Amino acid sequence: MKKLLSVLLACVLVLGLAACGNDKQQNAGNNNQQEEQPVLRMATNAEFPPYEYYEGDKIVGIDAEVAAAIAEKLGMKLEIEDMAFESTLMALSTGQTDMVMAGMTVTEERKENANFSTPYAEGHQVVIVKEDSEIETLDDLQGKKIGVQTNTTGDIYSTDDFGDEAVERYNKGADAVIALSQGLIDAVIIDLEPAKVFVATNDGLKLLETEYATEEYAIALNKENTELFEKVDGALQELIADGTVQEIVDRYINAE
Ligand code: ARG
Repeated sequence: MKKLLSVLLACVLVLGLAACGNDKQQNAGNNNQQEEQPVLRMATNAEFPPYEYYEGDKIVGIDAEVAAAIAEKLGMKLEIEDMAFESTLMALSTGQTDMVMAGMTVTEERKENANFSTPYAEGHQVVIVKEDSEIETLDDLQGKKIGVQTNTTGDIYSTDDFGDEAVERYNKGADAVIALSQGLIDAVIIDLEPAKVFVATNDGLKLLETEYATEEYAIALNKENTELFEKVDGALQELIADGTVQEIVDRYINAE
């Protein structure tokens, strides 16, 4: 009997302690949320509506919102850094940022220097021309001046297909579109969703019917940091599975 009692007592003590311990951890966790939540740094190029663009001085868009949902799931504080698209993967390798979310296409070459998450969107490279352009098919692009955003897949593929001299590189997609409107170049090759925005907001432009390429967008993470990769990819997969990603996409891209 005595033995049973002391065992019981021990249990109560242990349970009590465990509960206390848990309580403390909980509190510490809560404090962390207010003060020192770990930071999740994301690099992007906010020249790419509806994935990332400025509304006032705030970066909004599909990527910004999916990233915020990932950070929330992981109990982290999201910090977005805007930079040239061509600098984003370098920022990842040098540890200046934790992840790149920039409507970034997964390519074999990029996979050599970064780990890519589960894809969260399909991308399409399309061709913007002037409404009265003589360019009607992809073949008509031969011998023409093509504008692209530097280091994008539009840049990489069109350099391959049409030659380096044919390609004019711009820091922003919007700058390529301005050059097209001004007649400095004959076409712009860029991702479909920004292309739709540019055609809608600039007079006298249209999309070619045939698209140039289909691809997938994913989050790029540092190859060394597999722990963060697992976390971010896990959170993203959950957000895809529970419909959050789709809900965000639907808010930015009207399904007509
Ligand atoms: N999808 C293309 C690529 O990965 C273009 C991405 C451009 N993104 C941006 N935020 N400017 O090369």
